[in-house]
Amino acid sequence: MAKSFTRFVCQSCGRTAAKALGRCPQCGEWNTYTEELVTDEPARRVASSHGSGSNTPKPLTQIAGGAESERMPLSIGEFARVLGGGVVPGSLVLIGGDPGIGKSTLLLQTAMEMAAQGRVLYVSGEESPSQIKMRADRLSTDQSINQLIDSLFLVTETNLDAILHHVEQIKPRLLIIDSIQTVYDPQIDSSAGSVTQLRECSDRFRQLAKSSGLAVFLIGHVTKEGVIAGPRLLEHMVDTVLYLEGDRFQSFRLLRAVKNRFGATAEVGVFEMVGRGMQEVPNPSEAFLAERVVNAAGSAIAVTMEGTRPLLVEVQGLTSPSAFGNPRRSGNGIDTNRLLLITAVLTRRLGLPLAEQDVFVNIVGGLRIGEPAADLAVAAAIASSAWDRPLRADIILVGEVGLSGELRTVPHTAARLKEAAALGFKSAVIPRRLRKNDELPGGIDIQEARTLREALELATLAREK
Ligand code: TYD
Ligand code: MG
Repeated sequence: MAKSFTRFVCQSCGRTAAKALGRCPQCGEWNTYTEELVTDEPARRVASSHGSGSNTPKPLTQIAGGAESERMPLSIGEFARVLGGGVVPGSLVLIGGDPGIGKSTLLLQTAMEMAAQGRVLYVSGEESPSQIKMRADRLSTDQSINQLIDSLFLVTETNLDAILHHVEQIKPRLLIIDSIQTVYDPQIDSSAGSVTQLRECSDRFRQLAKSSGLAVFLIGHVTKEGVIAGPRLLEHMVDTVLYLEGDRFQSFRLLRAVKNRFGATAEVGVFEMVGRGMQEVPNPSEAFLAERVVNAAGSAIAVTMEGTRPLLVEVQGLTSPSAFGNPRRSGNGIDTNRLLLITAVLTRRLGLPLAEQDVFVNIVGGLRIGEPAADLAVAAAIASSAWDRPLRADIILVGEVGLSGELRTVPHTAARLKEAAALGFKSAVIPRRLRKNDELPGGIDIQEARTLREALELATLAREK
């Protein structure tokens, strides 16, 4: 018998409670609880957990196939790499990102690509099939789009039951849901995009993927705070979580894996949004440095690791006298706390007169650096601007800055230096190595420094050579 009950759900973190709470004890947000009517849920849960009799324990050695053997190849190389090498059948992948960043574009390109290998169903809750067709026309390269269209199916639908029905009819190998926030289960009396709906709908897609071997991509919008709306909850349910990031006003887009059951996390794919959709950037370091003005004060090159890949980026620093007694420190692409720390170290340990200066730091290309390994380059960019003296153009700077002004070793030094050498950089300043067991690449002049002061001296001395 169908039973229904009401409960209160936090729209921020998904915690449920018997009554509305003013402040959520889990995520600390205020006034986020809304009432939801749930119908028949316990009965369905039971039914789904005792499905077929196939879920009996088996010895590991008798379990057929590994994910690796069956991956569906994907010729969008940057995307495939982030996924861990192709699309795994039966996997559930969540792709999040700000509105307008290019999620629908990337997944439509993927759908068109994968349609060459089998049927693909693209379900949109936001755009009509003719709108999507228009975009597909825009994306299609010289290869005949009509050939693909036969195996690429589009539908505008938000009702979960109808979507599952379409899947049964079409039997695609890949299902794309654009977006999960628009899908609703008619059995649940709460609006699409609410936590209950997200949980229930995603769970149904997960069951569908696991039981039929269909790969499912869910697009998820990101809220202002930068989490997928209806948040962490979804991340636990899926196999892979990817975020598409970038500055909407710049063309580079980074596809970042934050969770991946089938590959390395922190892997990053780089794309550029052009007139014909998302184009891969096979050599991102070169692209990020393309517009650099050589010999300008306030510019330094850092090498950051994005997953397994080293990336060269330009860090720009600018100091300018502050108008009021309260100087500003503002960073674009770096953590503000990190910036405050570096500015403080420059002031205290190097005596740089920053107390009455505003300090701005910008990472060129819309990249966000989360690694302390870029500290030295950030410090050098600020110092270079303060001294109004450029650093040598062909030098890279790698190292973490400590509070007493010391330089600390960072991982993957060899990989970083190799990438720098490959791009024609002639010298590098790195923290003094205590263990010299990893082999550093040749072709680049390596100078080791113990402190930030030494490193900056080397970076400016190198200039006079
Ligand atoms: P879209 O994929 O709709 O973003 P999302 O699904 O993440 O909201 O992309 C939207 C932006 O991309 C839009 O502002 C137009 C731009 N765009 C291009 O620059 N080139 C293209 O080929 C396409 C299809 C879109
Ligand atoms: Mg979209």
